[in-house]
Amino acid sequence: MAAVTCSKLFAAAKTSNIFSQVSIRLATAAAAVQEKPRLKKFSIYRWDPESPGMKPKMQEYEVDLNNCGPMLLDALVKIKNEVDPTLTFRKSCREGICGSCSMNIDGGNTLACICKINENVGKTTKVYPLPHMHVIKDLVPDFSNFYAQYASIQPWLQKKDEANIGKEAYHQTVEDRDKLDGLYECILCACCSTSCPSYWWSADKYLGPAVLMQAYRWIIDSRDEERAKRLSQMRDKFTVYRCHTILNCTAACPKGLNPAKAIGELKLMMNEL
Ligand code: SF4
Ligand code: SF4
Ligand code: FES
Repeated sequence: MAAVTCSKLFAAAKTSNIFSQVSIRLATAAAAVQEKPRLKKFSIYRWDPESPGMKPKMQEYEVDLNNCGPMLLDALVKIKNEVDPTLTFRKSCREGICGSCSMNIDGGNTLACICKINENVGKTTKVYPLPHMHVIKDLVPDFSNFYAQYASIQPWLQKKDEANIGKEAYHQTVEDRDKLDGLYECILCACCSTSCPSYWWSADKYLGPAVLMQAYRWIIDSRDEERAKRLSQMRDKFTVYRCHTILNCTAACPKGLNPAKAIGELKLMMNEL
């Protein structure tokens, strides 16, 4: 009986066009909500070496989050494309793979392309270059020292007899290959090294967590034959031992890796030399 009544009401409502009126009103209300801008402020570090006398400053930009992608890099790209083409930053893959867009966002080092915008429009998001690095321009730090340190650990396979280098001659068991998990995924973004207080003050002598984790990656590779040489090259007060196990590095890694653990293992191996 009730079902019959409902279907009658439904038919009557359809005929009297109530449904279409209601849906038009709902669509209009939704559009009004959509159209209300969600203006979010971004305060961004600016410095241009080609503007003589210019001191570093913070510059504020406003972005409507309704017309912007969800990540911090989306906001930077929007500002550069639509507001200020002079804003300078690095980016490439936009998916956390290349490591180019590392910067300091609201106090933490991370990758702008995988960092969600804080949608609280009452809070200004602050964006700086990676800390304690020389700045080339705006959000672009100078990686020269970092790359030189990476080169210094000779990050490639080394054999006593190099006759087979370049051929598929160096096999590895599944178990030995598994030991490289959590190490090879590093994208060298330097978020960890530039959040390490020891690296801030001794970047000329201390290798820092990113490079040390890569050193460890080659030292434990079962195919490599220069373990002792690699370890002995790091035997001084600074190269490894400036790490005081503060763990900022592991907390900062946007790829979820654990450089502090790798350094701990490295110290153990050096003690056994
Ligand atoms: S654990 Fe070592 S490398 Fe990591 S932040 Fe602390 S001092 Fe730096
Ligand atoms: S360990 Fe993590 S934070 Fe450090 S360089 Fe590699 S990916 Fe970046
Ligand atoms: S753009 Fe490649 S990691 Fe962000």
